[in-house]
Amino acid sequence: MEFTRALVLTCSLLLLCCSSAYAQKVGAPSLSPSPAPAPTPPYVNLTDLLTVAGPFHTFLNYLIQTKLIETVQNQANNTDEGLTLFVPKDSAFSSLKTPSLSNLTNDQLKSLVLFHALSHYYTLADFKNLSQLSPIPSMAGGAYTLNFTDNMGTVHISTGWTNTKISSSVHSTDPVAVYQVDKVLLPEAIFGTDIPPTAAPAPAPDISPVADVPSASGGSGSTPTSKDGSSSYRIGSFSVWSSLVLAISVVLVSFL
Ligand SMILES: *[C@@H]1O[C@H](CO)[C@@H](O)[C@H](O)[C@H]1NC(C)=O
Ligand SMILES: *[C@@H]1O[C@H](CO)[C@@H](O)[C@H](O)[C@H]1NC(C)=O
Ligand SMILES: *[C@@H]1O[C@H](CO)[C@@H](O)[C@H](O)[C@H]1NC(C)=O
Ligand SMILES: *[C@@H]1O[C@H](CO)[C@@H](O)[C@H](O)[C@H]1NC(C)=O
Ligand SMILES: *[C@@H]1O[C@H](CO)[C@@H](O)[C@H](O)[C@H]1NC(C)=O
Repeated sequence: MEFTRALVLTCSLLLLCCSSAYAQKVGAPSLSPSPAPAPTPPYVNLTDLLTVAGPFHTFLNYLIQTKLIETVQNQANNTDEGLTLFVPKDSAFSSLKTPSLSNLTNDQLKSLVLFHALSHYYTLADFKNLSQLSPIPSMAGGAYTLNFTDNMGTVHISTGWTNTKISSSVHSTDPVAVYQVDKVLLPEAIFGTDIPPTAAPAPAPDISPVADVPSASGGSGSTPTSKDGSSSYRIGSFSVWSSLVLAISVVLVSFL
């Protein structure tokens, strides 16, 4: 009988040891002595990138004043799909006379900015296929679509109002692609389909392209749901299970 009691106690102790070792292993994975370098996805700070490249200050200012910088950064962080951004240089904004961006509403400005973004990472080579799939929906959604044509490696973009091309690749590493475009992409969904036959710039008074827009109400960037609950749940249920076994052991011991 003494032997059985000892056996049960040993088993219980062993179980406790195992469960605490397991909890420790799950709880502190960084203490693992494994020398393998963690393949962390490269994080791109779009604010930093657009500050040093370009000059893309006008586009960056629009991203910041509409708070859409959070939306696109969030999309860039989402490594499953990634992000493709078409960024016009400051000179593209300053040379844009008509139509002017100066009297767009805040919502129209937001749509115009998101019209320059695709919710997927595309390499330049991918645009050959995208040209067959055109029109491609932009992140502005709905009727805000872009047409691509691949002309011997040069990617042309057409919106109806704008015919331009990708003039250089600023950044292209999965999950983030940033391409420089020669012109501001103007959507028909804002400016209508009544497009002047020649894009001759009218001698309109030059109004500052950076419109004074009141702060956007509520960020549209959604917070991704955390997946961190699962491991603690597992530890929790393991503890419950081992406590149960322990309790049964104690009951057994007292009966022996
Ligand atoms: C990105 O860079 C900007 C400018 O350096 C900085 O203010 C911001 O905190 C950075 N964002 C993140 C998420 O690191
Ligand atoms: C993007 O990821 C960086 C680094 O993990 C983080 O600091 C930043 O807050 C994230 N930003 C958004 C908008 O998700
Ligand atoms: C501002 O909007 C009005 C009406 O939509 C338009 O007629 C006018 O040309 C616009 N101004 C500029 C500078 O584009
Ligand atoms: C492009 O399309 C062809 C067939 O249409 C397909 O075989 C190929 O995998 C596609 N390439 C990419 C990068 O999607
Ligand atoms: C975009 O492509 C579609 C399908 O080929 C075509 O119907 C449409 O007219 C094109 N739009 C522009 C602005 O080129």
